[in-house]
Amino acid sequence: MNASEAVSLYPVIAIDGGAGTGKTTSAALVAARLGFCYVDSGALYRAIAVALGEESESHAAAHALAATPAFAAAIEAIPLRLEPAADRFHILLQGRDLGAELRTPEVSRRASQLAVHGAVRARVGRLLREAARIGPLVVEGRDIGTVVFPQATLKVFLIARVAERARRRRLDLLRQGIDQSEEQVARDLEERDRRDSTRADAPLREAEEALCLDTGTCTVEAQVEEILRAFHQAAGIRAAAPPQGQGHVDEDRDGRAAPGEEG
Ligand code: DC
Repeated sequence: MNASEAVSLYPVIAIDGGAGTGKTTSAALVAARLGFCYVDSGALYRAIAVALGEESESHAAAHALAATPAFAAAIEAIPLRLEPAADRFHILLQGRDLGAELRTPEVSRRASQLAVHGAVRARVGRLLREAARIGPLVVEGRDIGTVVFPQATLKVFLIARVAERARRRRLDLLRQGIDQSEEQVARDLEERDRRDSTRADAPLREAEEALCLDTGTCTVEAQVEEILRAFHQAAGIRAAAPPQGQGHVDEDRDGRAAPGEEG
């Protein structure tokens, strides 16, 4: 079993989907209802984009450069860690919680460009799997159910029409003081989705056994109830017959056990 197949001792709910499908809202609410910790894996990719700054443009543009050991070493050296709090893991870059800085359209684009690189995905995957050793998690992202936690207790895949996603994302940006037309936001979302779902390494796709919900056609409350119902059902089935491998923790490549030891 390799690191990407490592099994968590605790339950994991994986919530995947394209940009603006409402993953954060559902994931944070489900985590709060269950008393699990919430982790935003996209924010880790965003933090790496912020850490590399302008450089991330050239790395993304020059694939050959990004495949070098120097690039992998640069990614490993980023002082990034996940810090557990009561309800979520905070993402700290050089000890600093980045907040709104992570959410600009520029950082969205760079994060998606960097996410095609194996070195970047490996670092994020390791941080997430280390977090899963601390306690139960709800993790949102693109490849959480397919690659990072293939043994997740429950896999959810969220979808919504582009127009609906662009409308929501535009409101998010407005709250940050960024005013873009809905057309521009929709173009950016579609470009990001295309890149995220066509890359060779861990593309965005629905896991076979995922619960698929259209967040444009049901209320947030209904989504959360549906996810909770499916989780309790899946957890009940597991309790009756634990899957092989459940109940032990595989060592990651570097053998570290606590998120606080990253970076
Ligand atoms: O969820 P988000 O929009 O904050 O994610 C930003 C980018 O990070 C996204 O366009 C692709 C990348 N990402 C990824 O490749 N895999 C994940 N599990 C999460 C995000």
